[in-house]
Amino acid sequence: MSTHTPVLLDAMLRLLALRLGGSYLDCTFGGGGHARAILEAIADARLTALDADPAAVERARAVAERFPGRFFFKAANFAALDTAPGAPFDGVLADLGCSSFQFDDAQRGFSFRADAPADMRMNPHEGISAAEFLETASEAALIAAVRDCGDEPRWKAVVRAILAARGTGKLSRTLSLAELVAAAVWRPGPPAKTHPATRTFQGLRITVNDELGALRTALPKAFAALAPDGVLAVISFHSLEDRIVKRFFNGLAGRPVDADDSRPQDEREKLAELLTRHPATPDEAETAANPRSRSAKLRAVRKLPVPTPAPAAASHFSLNPRITAPNTKQTP
Ligand SMILES: C[S@@+](CC[C@H](N)C(=O)[O-])C[C@H]1O[C@@H](n2cnc3c(N)ncnc32)[C@H](O)[C@@H]1O
Repeated sequence: MSTHTPVLLDAMLRLLALRLGGSYLDCTFGGGGHARAILEAIADARLTALDADPAAVERARAVAERFPGRFFFKAANFAALDTAPGAPFDGVLADLGCSSFQFDDAQRGFSFRADAPADMRMNPHEGISAAEFLETASEAALIAAVRDCGDEPRWKAVVRAILAARGTGKLSRTLSLAELVAAAVWRPGPPAKTHPATRTFQGLRITVNDELGALRTALPKAFAALAPDGVLAVISFHSLEDRIVKRFFNGLAGRPVDADDSRPQDEREKLAELLTRHPATPDEAETAANPRSRSAKLRAVRKLPVPTPAPAAASHFSLNPRITAPNTKQTP
């Protein structure tokens, strides 16, 4: 039976600084690993959970039975989290991407380990499947999916192969799609450690679920739903997601959102305190026990009860390692 191991669980609980009688929102219920840990840690905490995937309903029912009156689940996209009951929240968490349940259920089409319709939707009742996207998307949209969301260095060959395969049926199933991508990216040399279609599948999944758009919409809503001193914590698995979170959190903290943000410091307001200057990442023991956690990055902010003037201008430069710390690696 499939299970999902919650990623960075201890760090998440520590950053949330759970409070007696607190109210929490888990935007990405999945298998309920983070949700259960919060409900177990604080006997009278209440937790609202969302998940776009209707398959999460059954798992949520078991949690509701175990924590009567303290747990509420809604099958919804977190882009609509402003409609979730329980606000204001003392903590809002999001653990982005897919759960192991979704990867392990071949029929969902997220994986190339088994043959199935290439669907890849978190909510199969909304939007279009990956197969339909591949058959109908513009070339620019395919490039955005494969190159930008998938980080596929051989994106030109993949996009060319997809366009050439339209109407043949090869784009409709996971295995034929994976074979087509593998053939497009093949080069002589030792075999790669990961399947050659991994990046393209990731890019398609991010695209058909509009994962980056949902995150951009949700972050301001999540911050607005926080009580004073409440914590917003996000685990991302991809540099594009992490960049969105990092920029949003920097803006809240009255810091330049990136190295190109040269707005005068006195125009900024500090609405939140950064709890993670550098993201929390899994240690070796966690990545060994749960390889899926490898690329996880956890960032968190605490909402200030009263906005304060932004920190001194020096922080502007500290964001750009080329100026202050030439030997440190620049984070994406
Ligand atoms: C990594 S799993 C979460 C695992 C969970 N923290 C646990 O410990 O079991 C991510 C979950 O978020 C859900 N999800 C992804 N994007 C979503 C969105 N925009 N709105 C709501 N749920 C989403 C997925 O369906 C999946 O179940």
